[in-house]
Amino acid sequence: MEKRVVIITGGAQGIGKVTAARLAAGGWQVVIIDKDVDAGVEVAAAVEGLRFFHGDVSRLESVQEAIHEGVSQFGRIDGLVNNAGLGISKPITELSLEEWNRVIGTNLTGAFLFSKYCAPHLKDRQGAIVNIASTRAYMSEPNTEAYSASKGGLLAFTHALAMSLAPEVRVNSISPGWIDVTAHQKSSEREEKTWSREDHEQHPAGRIGLPEDIAEMVAYLLSEKAGFITGQDFVIDGGMTRRMIYV
Ligand SMILES: NC(=O)c1ccc[n+]([C@@H]2O[C@H](COP(=O)([O-])OP(=O)(O)OC[C@H]3O[C@@H](n4cnc5c(N)ncnc54)[C@H](O)[C@@H]3O)[C@@H](O)[C@H]2O)c1
Repeated sequence: MEKRVVIITGGAQGIGKVTAARLAAGGWQVVIIDKDVDAGVEVAAAVEGLRFFHGDVSRLESVQEAIHEGVSQFGRIDGLVNNAGLGISKPITELSLEEWNRVIGTNLTGAFLFSKYCAPHLKDRQGAIVNIASTRAYMSEPNTEAYSASKGGLLAFTHALAMSLAPEVRVNSISPGWIDVTAHQKSSEREEKTWSREDHEQHPAGRIGLPEDIAEMVAYLLSEKAGFITGQDFVIDGGMTRRMIYV
């Protein structure tokens, strides 16, 4: 039987990288697109069969090229994980239009472009999309307007797209809380960080999140087992958004 094919954006480091390894181990043909060449080359060497495309998810040509080459090579797309993301934390009075556009362009427009050009292929295969949002779509610290707006947009994009692509394609999102990705960066930036007891214990689940916590949910949402789930957001944050905090 031919392998199912999944495209993961921002799959060279962090949550995307661990998700790529998890899906490859689960029998998927994994295709990643990432703007970081060194990180992409490293992950392609580490995960057997993984195909890396260098590109920027906010650029139309990059997206079209990656999808065209992926389909030419593997003939199908069964899953899409819109994971590439970045944040810029600055007071709004200092945040430039270019910075605002860069955050929205990567986190939201990237998901739009990949979904748009993957949609016909996903429809053919009765596939699924998973968008990686954030608990910052629901709650905030100061100076995070661009990131929070992009993630809030991604939640609305998810339920709108779920209606548009139904019934062939299911579309869901995951909103991670604090996920420690320091051990999953490219080798030149990798760290084995030890977090304080307080950092861990503030979470009702008793610990900071791991990329594996997210990867497992992605694998489930892409699978037929999740066949009755679409248009939803799944918060994976160790319970932090359920914890009431009054000083
Ligand atoms: N780590 C967390 O605590 C956390 C919490 C909530 C949500 N998230 C979300 O999860 C996703 C992954 O985050 P992470 O922590 O693994 O980040 P990361 O920085 O470890 O990895 C992100 C990857 O995306 C790539 N990327 C960034 N912009 C790109 C672009 N324009 N085109 C192509 N590739 C690009 C980077 O090169 C990098 O390899 C993001 O959408 C992030 O907003 C992370």
